[in-house]
Amino acid sequence: MGNLECAVLHEGHKVASNGRTDFIEDRQGRTYLSLGQMVHSWAFLRLKHSMVQDESQREQSPNRRAVTRAICTDDVTQMAVEKGMPVEVVLPLNLIDGNRQGSLVVLGENIHDSFASETDQLELEQVNDYWNTEISLTNPYERLEALNKQGYHLSKNLTTNDAVALAEIWEPFGWDKAGVEAFIRSYENDPDKWVSVIRDDQNKIISGCMAERVHFKGLEMVETTEFGTHPDHRGHGACTVALYSLISQVMTDTQYNPANGNTPLIMAEFNMTARSDVVGRHVGMEVPKYSTNNVRVGQILQRNVSVFDGKPENTIRLEDLPEEVRETYRASYGNDYSKWRNFVVGLLPETSIDNYYQPDQVQKVLSQYDIK
Ligand SMILES: CC(C)(COP(=O)(O)OP(=O)(O)OC[C@H]1O[C@@H](n2cnc3c(N)ncnc32)[C@H](O)[C@@H]1OP(=O)(O)O)[C@@H](O)C(=O)NCCC(=O)NCCS
Repeated sequence: MGNLECAVLHEGHKVASNGRTDFIEDRQGRTYLSLGQMVHSWAFLRLKHSMVQDESQREQSPNRRAVTRAICTDDVTQMAVEKGMPVEVVLPLNLIDGNRQGSLVVLGENIHDSFASETDQLELEQVNDYWNTEISLTNPYERLEALNKQGYHLSKNLTTNDAVALAEIWEPFGWDKAGVEAFIRSYENDPDKWVSVIRDDQNKIISGCMAERVHFKGLEMVETTEFGTHPDHRGHGACTVALYSLISQVMTDTQYNPANGNTPLIMAEFNMTARSDVVGRHVGMEVPKYSTNNVRVGQILQRNVSVFDGKPENTIRLEDLPEEVRETYRASYGNDYSKWRNFVVGLLPETSIDNYYQPDQVQKVLSQYDIK
């Protein structure tokens, strides 16, 4: 495929697939492109994003959000921010390895208001305050031991009999039983996917998350996603332990794999309303600060996707949307727009790998899988 051309894929419903690059695709009302190769030219980045925008505003069923993800050189990143491109997120790669140059950059634009109300501002302040306050972290392994004592255990061996329970937990993200069954059948033979769940004393899955590799050239990037705990089991550390062990699996298969040996960029998009950023911080993830020439990047994907997380609706009303798209929205998204969530983005920095994910620590965690 030529550098300037991207195939366009239209997808109907939720599937686990963040890994493709160089395809402009439809994802839950978003037009989405991940560029597979390091971007060395600011004009190239601008061109690509304008293609994504154009595609999102196509006449037949336009999308509401245009997103371009790319690994950019430091110069391109700086230019994109300083020139006022819609840079929502910058994850500098030197945080995962001091010798690395460049950043993962996410450009994102909505055709509707993003931070519209006081409620949004409050959410933003709470998350900012949390990340600007020092806390002493409990070692995640202690959380695993505490969870075991409560009768829960770690698992990664799933069968299709688990589909109903896991679909219930992932339903807020748009999964159904058939989708989860297909995932369970495929993930074990898919080197680009990982899953980690927590089971209760009846062996029923009560929490789970997954990870997927994104195929950027020269960068091992793994996105952790679908963090979910059944409402009856929240607040016991289940998601923290599921994520911690998931990352341990990823570290074994990437950094500690003799065939590879590169420090992976392990990242996550955290639902700010459900506060899954707290879970990320428990396992050593960090929301990095990035600014250039006094312009600060918020690290927030604004109204990224809808999550039916049981939290109050956002303040977007149909009437707030541009008149010409209201009918399309009503038809395409029903009531989803009231659940469009803001996501703060984090990564696993080198310091946390040093503290919590050394080979012996990772092995200790992995030895806890599927024993009661
Ligand atoms: C987010 C979610 C996965 C957390 O699962 P969980 O098993 O309860 O998570 P844990 O118990 O491991 O940790 C939750 C932490 O968040 C904290 N937390 C939860 N809500 C919070 C809030 N509103 N403000 C601050 N902290 C909050 C808890 O206190 C806990 O921290 P602590 O152990 O230091 O007390 C769960 O709430 C969920 O499934 N939500 C709906 C789906 C969703 O939106 N997922 C996020 C997608 S990115």
